[in-house]
Amino acid sequence: MSVHIGADPNAIAPTVLLPGDPLRAQFVAENYFTDVEIYNEVRGMLGFTGTWNGTRVSVQGSGMGMPSLAIYVNELIRSYGVQRIIRIGSCGSMQPEVGIRDLIVAMTASTDSAMNRQRFHGMDYAPAASWRLFQSAVEVARERGTSIHAGGILSSDTFYQDDPDGWKRWAEYGVLAVEMETNQLYTLAAKHGVDALTLLTVSDSLVTGEELSSEDRQTSFHEMMELALEVVRRQEAGAV
Ligand code: HPA
Repeated sequence: MSVHIGADPNAIAPTVLLPGDPLRAQFVAENYFTDVEIYNEVRGMLGFTGTWNGTRVSVQGSGMGMPSLAIYVNELIRSYGVQRIIRIGSCGSMQPEVGIRDLIVAMTASTDSAMNRQRFHGMDYAPAASWRLFQSAVEVARERGTSIHAGGILSSDTFYQDDPDGWKRWAEYGVLAVEMETNQLYTLAAKHGVDALTLLTVSDSLVTGEELSSEDRQTSFHEMMELALEVVRRQEAGAV
């Protein structure tokens, strides 16, 4: 038991998939896992452990935004000994060549949040993806013929921005897309010496104003899941 996760000590697998939406976690458990057990219902932030192709794996909702994600990531690592966390999320594209439905593997995450400014007393920190997980994701994508964009993203504290053009400064500097969690996932993983990676499907485009239909969301989500689960399987098998 930890403050926000009501699980037994060994109920969570060493690798956790981390969608923002707890109902996504349930969807993953129901559609991809066998031998599923629910280990958390505290605050409705559902967590499940099951098996995929012989590999034990967990899936846990993180909520939206970095303060919420940081609570779950801290507890997963510190109270349950989790070694690998793969965020499976959605994002808004900031580049014309990054279309809706595309897949992004986040190498790093800039931010407009003050969380790391507080942590580093006003200095900047450059959080990075786990090389092990990143190179495995690139390798699996190549083998499967899945096209990906790899690069930097923005983790923002605000979904509804006052300045409608504010994102363009980030875009000018090559940032691929915006979401709201990865900067703290990578920072906390580094602090605790565990591996983290973010995979994102592009659900909307700030460039064109397009949005994914719910049907399209399912298809591109499936591609991301297959990639994430194969990365998990290889890590667990030690076949990096
Ligand atoms: N902004 C922030 N987070 C997001 C977006 C967005 O446009 N799309 C999906 N997650």
